[in-house]
Amino acid sequence: MFQPLTKQSDNEEITVHFNGEPLRVASNISVAAALLSHDIQSLRQTLQNQSPRGPFCMMGACFECLVQIDGVTRQACMTIVEEGLKITSMPQNQPVYEDLNQSQHEKGTDIDDL
Ligand code: FES
Repeated sequence: MFQPLTKQSDNEEITVHFNGEPLRVASNISVAAALLSHDIQSLRQTLQNQSPRGPFCMMGACFECLVQIDGVTRQACMTIVEEGLKITSMPQNQPVYEDLNQSQHEKGTDIDDL
C-alpha cells in the first residue's frame, strides 16, 4: 500500500519499540510511517465501541494516530522516529484529548489553537 519515496539504501535504520517489541525502521520517517511499514495499523480504540483507530490523514489533521511516546501522548504522523523511542498504544478507556491537550499546553500550544 505504501512505498518509500527514497531508496531503502539511502536510509539508516534505527530501533524503536512498540508495545515492548523492538522494530527496525528507517531513520527519517514519521512514527506512523514506521508502524505502518510493519503493518501495525491499529493504535487505539474508541471509547464508545472499542473500534480500532490508526493513521488516516498522515498530515496532523485527523488525530486518529495518537500514541504515547515515552509516556507522552503524541500524533504519530507528526513525530519523527528517534533511536530507542518507546511507543505504546493508547490505554483503553482513557479520554485521549485531555491528555493530548495537556502535552500541547506544556509545549506552549493548546489543542484549541491547532
Ligand atoms: S494520521 Fe491524521 S493526525 Fe496523524
